[in-house]
Amino acid sequence: MKFFIDTANLAQIKEAHDLGVLDGVTTNPSLMAKEGIKGIEKIHQHYKDICALTEGDVSAEVIATDFEGMVKEGEELAKLHSQIVVKVPMIKDGIKAIKYFTNKGIRTNCTLVFSAGQALLAAKAGATYVSPFIGRLDDVSTDGMDLIEDIRIIYDNYGYETQILAASIRHTIHIIQCAKIGADVATCPLSAILALLNHPLTDKGLAQFLADAKK
Ligand code: G3P
Repeated sequence: MKFFIDTANLAQIKEAHDLGVLDGVTTNPSLMAKEGIKGIEKIHQHYKDICALTEGDVSAEVIATDFEGMVKEGEELAKLHSQIVVKVPMIKDGIKAIKYFTNKGIRTNCTLVFSAGQALLAAKAGATYVSPFIGRLDDVSTDGMDLIEDIRIIYDNYGYETQILAASIRHTIHIIQCAKIGADVATCPLSAILALLNHPLTDKGLAQFLADAKK
């Protein structure tokens, strides 16, 4: 399973990259705003700065919600760097835009996916990635992991090459469950990636080894 980091924070991207386990980055307008990145030139430069920190794919989201606007924005984003994947919302014009980008050889990430039917449409349009939001489903008392399972079954039934990019991951159990089901990618906050390191028996065992080494 590939690990992407879900942030626009350059220091966190560097920390995950330096750990040696980073396969890519996902961003969204909320994450860009959180870093205080405003204005088209600064936003484009920030995407380039992110691409310089990883060898993997970097999802950059369009703001437009109409077909023509998404195509214009997406083509500009794709030109910024070969690692850019154009992130498009799961709406009617978004599906049309994904099909357009697919025909042009521009890679896409269909975001805000909350149902298996939406994931099926994204795959049929040729999306490179589909982003089901696990945590936000959990937030409304719906098991987000059931959606990952359903999409895995559907994609495997028909050999769709669209990669399942599990998003809105909040903690380590989400990551483990995604790996068990066979999600292709998990995009996680740095805290969830680092939390995978932790086990009290590791700490206890290491303390014992170090104490014994002094004897
Ligand atoms: O990748 C989507 C992600 O940023 C949403 O996460 O925690 O805002 O639901 P969250």
